[in-house]
Amino acid sequence: MKNYTKMNEYLSNLAVLNVKLHNVHWNVVGPQFVQIHEFTESLYDDMFEKFDAVAELMKMRDVSPLAKMADYLKNATVEELDGDKFTRDEVLDIVQEDLKKMKAIATDIRNQADEDGDFEVVGEFEEHVAGYSKNLWFIKAMMTK
Ligand SMILES: [Fe+2]
Repeated sequence: MKNYTKMNEYLSNLAVLNVKLHNVHWNVVGPQFVQIHEFTESLYDDMFEKFDAVAELMKMRDVSPLAKMADYLKNATVEELDGDKFTRDEVLDIVQEDLKKMKAIATDIRNQADEDGDFEVVGEFEEHVAGYSKNLWFIKAMMTK
């Protein structure tokens, strides 16, 4: 892949989402607290693993991944949250929007890598896309409206 801007954007989003998902994990209130608390934990664990995997893919290609919080905030396209209390439905809406965004970026990276013949990146990102699809299904199934 000639251009790693998109992968750095994705990496930055993973870094921001790690914190953002902890925010909703800690601050969700109301019915089904435990369910949302545990679901968001499974998501931040997953994002944390992806964060390392993506940076290592870049290193293997002699590209330096962004590695500073300041740079992640500058390059991320997901937004941090204000507030310290979120209802279940608010959390589901927020997480749904972010996972849709991540799925779209992961799909772009996968397709670009395919054009470049980089099948390791293709393989890694196909798994990411499939994971987002599964979690988006879970979210839709949990939604009451
Ligand atoms: Fe926790």
